[in-house]
Amino acid sequence: MMCLTGTDVEHAARLLRDGGLVAFPTETVYGLGANALSATAVARVFEAKERPRFDPLIVHVHEAAQIERLAPGVPDQARVLIERFWPGPLTLVLPKTDLVPDLVTSALPTVALRSPDHAIALELLRRAGVPVAAPSANLFGRLSPTEAAHVAEQLGDRIDYILDGGPCRVGVESTVLDVSREPATLLRPGGLPLEEIEAVIGPVALGDGREPGESGGRPTPSPGMLPHHYAPTTPLLVVAEIAADVQKLAAAVSPGHAGGAPRVGLLSLTPEDPSRFAAVETLSPTGDLREAAAGFFAALRRLDQQQLELMIARPFPEEGLGRALNDRLRRAAAAHTEL
Ligand code: TXA
Ligand code: MG
Repeated sequence: MMCLTGTDVEHAARLLRDGGLVAFPTETVYGLGANALSATAVARVFEAKERPRFDPLIVHVHEAAQIERLAPGVPDQARVLIERFWPGPLTLVLPKTDLVPDLVTSALPTVALRSPDHAIALELLRRAGVPVAAPSANLFGRLSPTEAAHVAEQLGDRIDYILDGGPCRVGVESTVLDVSREPATLLRPGGLPLEEIEAVIGPVALGDGREPGESGGRPTPSPGMLPHHYAPTTPLLVVAEIAADVQKLAAAVSPGHAGGAPRVGLLSLTPEDPSRFAAVETLSPTGDLREAAAGFFAALRRLDQQQLELMIARPFPEEGLGRALNDRLRRAAAAHTEL
């Protein structure tokens, strides 16, 4: 049975209080929420997503005062960030209390906290009256949902309610920053650009050992940041320059392909000559990275549904939201590393 999609915030809040699973909109992506203080409710999140238990969840609050019981002893630097950026796409990792079940944090001594900048999400959290653990509302390792319909597609028969708030404004997940250690360390680039954080607290260590602007990937210390993630079903190739003969690339990717020229799709930041491609998704006519992020997952989804042999994308400029976009692109492409 498909679960109900609707706009009834009070119903959604009641479900959360009663241990139910509710997908809800945030400014970044849709979350799959459960009462963070109930290990039983949180266990249902892992089951519905088929998420491994070593990958901890973010706990959502409607106001900063709520974190006192979950993570007291907030360092000054973190307080400054909370004042400046909450509600917003910044998740802070802080030492936790026993009130937070081990299941939420994968038995880590820290908990990830954030307050979403979205009126419906904040109203839901306020009415639920409990902190809400919520990963992105997709099956584990798949593309993140930025519309209610994306959630229904993957999780519709496994959860209790989808609270529809329209498309998400930011479009990539929150930036995760570990402020439980010195210096503060970036665990996941996301919706709040690194530059904005550094303008407030100074240089931040990059969790994956890379210098700013350096490409390539070493493993990050954040559990759950797997090299394969955000996996589309169509192979995705990220290339600096697009070869003249894209069909040749596609033939190499799917040698078994029979009949007709292989179909190649392009995910492009700015408008591009479409003649060589079976499909083109343009993210921003003016090359604006915020606009690109807002439409990124939906565009990748649309391309992925067109029975293409190959999707091609160029890296984004490694600045602002481009950092988060490159991270998602790299992981989406790594799902087909046989290339
Ligand atoms: O924008 C977002 O952050 C969305 C919306 C729904 O809020 N949520 C989201 O959750 O992206 P999820 O589960 O897809 O990603 C959570 C990330 C993972 O990379 C996880 O490893 C990391 O946060 N994380 C959670 N708790 C952590 C902790 N205690 N220490 C280090 N990393 C942690
Ligand atoms: Mg996710």
